[in-house]
Amino acid sequence: MIDQDIHKGLAGVVVDYTAVSKVNPETNSLLYRGYPVQELAAQCSFEEVAYLLWHGELPDGGQLAEFESLERSLRGLDDNVKRVINDLPLTAHPMDVVRTAVSVIGANDPDAADSSPESNLTKSIALLAKLPAIVAYDQRRRRGQDIVEPRDDLGYSANFLHMTFGDVPDLVVVNAFDVSMILYAEHSFNASTFTARVITSTLADLYSAVVGAIGALKGPLHGGANEAVMHTFDEIGSADRVEAWLDAALAEKRKIMGFGHRVYKNGDSRVPTMKTALDTLAAEFDAGGLVELYEALEAAMQERKNIKPNLDYPSGPAYSLIGYDTEMFTPLFVASRVTGWTAHIMEQLQSNTLIRPLSLYNGPDERHVPASEKN
Ligand code: COA
Repeated sequence: MIDQDIHKGLAGVVVDYTAVSKVNPETNSLLYRGYPVQELAAQCSFEEVAYLLWHGELPDGGQLAEFESLERSLRGLDDNVKRVINDLPLTAHPMDVVRTAVSVIGANDPDAADSSPESNLTKSIALLAKLPAIVAYDQRRRRGQDIVEPRDDLGYSANFLHMTFGDVPDLVVVNAFDVSMILYAEHSFNASTFTARVITSTLADLYSAVVGAIGALKGPLHGGANEAVMHTFDEIGSADRVEAWLDAALAEKRKIMGFGHRVYKNGDSRVPTMKTALDTLAAEFDAGGLVELYEALEAAMQERKNIKPNLDYPSGPAYSLIGYDTEMFTPLFVASRVTGWTAHIMEQLQSNTLIRPLSLYNGPDERHVPASEKN
């Protein structure tokens, strides 16, 4: 084997088919089960999109009502999940809390090892329903606030915000949040989804695959970037400081978080929709300065590096305006992406092959342990 046979980072390697979503960098489009994500964001709720990802079709009225009622009935957390969250130190990153809580939910489930499509769908709906309670509770306990129990008279996003902040914000805020959930839901064979598929390919259970995916999402080159974007904004401070900050950062060869993408090289198809949601939030919260900073850094990155923003760039500041603490941003991504992960887990199991690539050894040549006195 020679060097060019190595596909470092699996860049450009096609490893399987998927019918869940299509990312097309040439046309800058993203389709979930054939539907453009922009149309879904404009016309559907996150619940409808979750149903679409799992079933392959949008629900009719009756199917949606049944699905919503099931999801609403599963929103509470078992006492031992709450206890485990409470026992974790506040120094733990919220992603560690989410990862641990999902592990406990899996350990609680007597059907964890049943990987039939029916059982995995039930588990997926339960995770969709429970993740908002985990994320909301973790932010509240960090602020010294009591848990807010879920309401079953509210849609997914309104209830999520209610559990986090203790009341339901204006409809424009709920809608912007819902749009972010739709845009984050699915993106083909990204690192965390591929992690979930690798774990599933060993025939481990769905919870193990989701826990592994959460670990992969935590990194700043993947989901952790939405959090890192906000740290960048805090570091820069205001639009007039962008040029000097960027010059220094690029001179130090720093990666600018929220920019660049492994697949999209001409812009991320989800960014314009999320930027519109961010603009709406900025108008609602009178945060014009944040948008100025956003646009100044985007323009400077375009001029200096010709690199465009990815979805994490507008979603980080949007979550901040809604009221989330910065370190809760990636857990919000988990709450959404669990739909895509589980759709891929179920797809992987439909025609499973163990995922096990090869490597080219470049360590020492064969050698031998010196003779010793060992009996
Ligand atoms: N800031 C500065 N330079 C960047 C950059 C960024 N955000 N993203 C890419 N580049 C530059 C690299 O330095 C490299 O330049 P070089 O060829 O002169 O060394 C070139 O663009 C290619 O980057 P590379 O990291 O090899 O591309 P990739 O396809 O492996 O990486 C990402 C894609 C997403 C990992 C990368 O763009 C990145 O680290 N972005 C920041 C983190 C982020 O926002 N992640 C969320 C992704 S949705």
